[in-house]
Amino acid sequence: MSVVHLNGDYLAKDEAKVSVDERGFLFADGVYEVTPAYGGRLFRWPQHLERIQKGLAALRIDFDAAALEGVKYELLARNGLDKASAAYVYVQVTRGAAPRMHAFPDPPVAPGVYAFANPYHRPSTERWEQGFRAVTVPDQRWARADIKAIALLPNVMAQQAAVDAGVSNAIFVRDGMAMEGAHNNLFVVAGGVLATAPKSNYILHGVTRDFVIGLAGDLGIPVEERAIPLPELFAADEVFFTGTTTEIKPAVAVDGRQIGDGRPGPVARRLFAAFIEAVGG
Ligand code: PDD
Repeated sequence: MSVVHLNGDYLAKDEAKVSVDERGFLFADGVYEVTPAYGGRLFRWPQHLERIQKGLAALRIDFDAAALEGVKYELLARNGLDKASAAYVYVQVTRGAAPRMHAFPDPPVAPGVYAFANPYHRPSTERWEQGFRAVTVPDQRWARADIKAIALLPNVMAQQAAVDAGVSNAIFVRDGMAMEGAHNNLFVVAGGVLATAPKSNYILHGVTRDFVIGLAGDLGIPVEERAIPLPELFAADEVFFTGTTTEIKPAVAVDGRQIGDGRPGPVARRLFAAFIEAVGG
């Protein structure tokens, strides 16, 4: 039985209970973060912290997210993941529990904090080398996809569309542009140049995305942050996803159309090798 954190307590998951007045439950009124841990060390925690702080500020939830670092380490330890080669910690902060009214509770109530830790299972080399397939879906999200809100219904529907199509990833398309995956960011490679959608209110500003752009810089691979028209996605030499629970995953087919030669390409391979080295193997 895993141990989770709920509002200051560490509990067996079975014993963790939330109020039916919890606004996360009623309104999806909250934000979350998923932070990787390699060898028991949180990876890029300051970047994840900054993002959740921005989200909390945007939603006007008064909570000191810096305190979550200790919660995350405690959860890794209590779940035997403090030496795990790869794990991740999920945390969400909601506006708290109050009788259902759309506007914020007045006076404010204590935010609701829930967190858990899980091992991360990287695909085997053989699986990775086969590549992954994806489908495109219309991007029906709200205009603040940069806030990592727990309101993920469009992402849930998109990922289910992928599952229904027998593939592993969905790509959101807005106004003819490939934006990002249902739970990861998206890169294309054409003529040796990497491209990914620019940071805007229409995508999540992925921590892994930034890290991979940095790795590309180190490797001398040019990167363009710009809109990616759908025809460019289909015509790309390579397509890959990045994210905390994705790391780097190559897409070898989109909507049934083969990408490049139908195998993970050299740029994704080089970046993934550099990524694995950076996170300690
Ligand atoms: N998702 N885009 C979306 C829509 C995401 O939900 C995520 C992460 C990313 C990648 O961000 P990062 O590199 O910071 O993990 C991009 C998490 C892992 C999730 O929802 O489980």
